[in-house]
Amino acid sequence: MMGRNSLSKSMILAVGAAAAASYPPVPEQIHLSLTGARGEMAVDFVTAAPGAYVFWGVDAARLASSSPATATNTTLNGWTAWLNTALVTGLAPNTTYYYCVGLNYTVVGRSEIYAFVNEPAREGGAVWAMFADLGYINSLAFTRLLVDAQSGGFDYVGHWGDFAYDMDDDNSRVGNAFMNMIQPVAAQIPYLPSVGNHEAVGEQGGSAFIQYVSRFAGVARFAGARSGSGSNLWYSLNEGLVHLVVFCTETWIMTDAQVRAQLAWLRADLAAVDRAATPWVVAAAHKHAGMDQTNFTSSGLGDALMTAGSAPVDLFFVGHQHAYYRYYAIDMRGPTMYYACNNSDASVYTRCPAPVIVVTGAAGNNEANSPTCGTAPTVYLHACSANYGYGKLRVVNASTAVWRWETAVHREGAPDPPTYADEFTIHR
Ligand SMILES: [Fe+2]
Repeated sequence: MMGRNSLSKSMILAVGAAAAASYPPVPEQIHLSLTGARGEMAVDFVTAAPGAYVFWGVDAARLASSSPATATNTTLNGWTAWLNTALVTGLAPNTTYYYCVGLNYTVVGRSEIYAFVNEPAREGGAVWAMFADLGYINSLAFTRLLVDAQSGGFDYVGHWGDFAYDMDDDNSRVGNAFMNMIQPVAAQIPYLPSVGNHEAVGEQGGSAFIQYVSRFAGVARFAGARSGSGSNLWYSLNEGLVHLVVFCTETWIMTDAQVRAQLAWLRADLAAVDRAATPWVVAAAHKHAGMDQTNFTSSGLGDALMTAGSAPVDLFFVGHQHAYYRYYAIDMRGPTMYYACNNSDASVYTRCPAPVIVVTGAAGNNEANSPTCGTAPTVYLHACSANYGYGKLRVVNASTAVWRWETAVHREGAPDPPTYADEFTIHR
């Protein structure tokens, strides 16, 4: 019979061996997303084992509510972990909630406690930070974004394609490092994604976007399901005065069935917009009609964006180009029509007959920003910068919104001054 001491020793060794083999030791890659339903917040995170929960409450010292996560054992390019999605419910508007994630029966190995504000009622209007093309290496605008988030500078954050460069690289270690880098922002501010060409790996079809699809599973499970797509490649949600509609422009690697399903969904989603409830319709994707490997004319995407309830989509945010560009309103049905839709002031758009396009792909990655942007303004382009940065959309009220892009880091050799900023007002 084994003595008590030897049993304990063997147990300790076994536990130690299991712990050493388990990665990650505590939940990581924590990020929030909106669900499209009031009073809820989704949270995604990664664990070494299933059985985790989300715990929340208005008192950080007493996280009285909890719900179990749905965990999926997932292998992504040689890395295997449990990817969790969980739902925080019963939230009151404009209220701060504290939460953590981890096991139910022990506090050992739980995450630290984060806070978020549900449906913040910001004076002057809700603020959406937006960028694209943010890598793990050379992520130059990130420090400013982090400080901005920590000082309450925005309420939501959108990342419109191209993550980490690339999430699949080095057996997914680059993706893991990126998702941990963004965690201090995304664990306290809802982080809404769209897919880009850097997320297209492998073969056409179901596995093409496997890193993105897996890491943002909460978006598909909640916002996707509630908007009728069941997907995170294309989904929509209402938040405050905004109907946000997100779609995939990487049609070159989608299956024909995916392309057809997305277009049918996009048309139906936009046709059903109630402008009285959500006067602002904001579209987001990785590319606009003028970019490579897209064809908004034949794909029907350009046509779909022209009818969002009683008017075209108001604003269309994209990335892909590693710079900041602010265009006129552009009819993407082809042949291309540009609308200045202002009076004499280039910084004001009034009731445009097509979406105003903003390229915000200048957040920083290992491919660096485009070296020059010296051609602006042109017949269709109002503003342009080669500096690193991101922008913020302030939804002032039902008829006015203000967009402002600011330099975070000056790009050496760029023609723009280190303090370059661009701002416009849009009326509807
Ligand atoms: Fe791209």
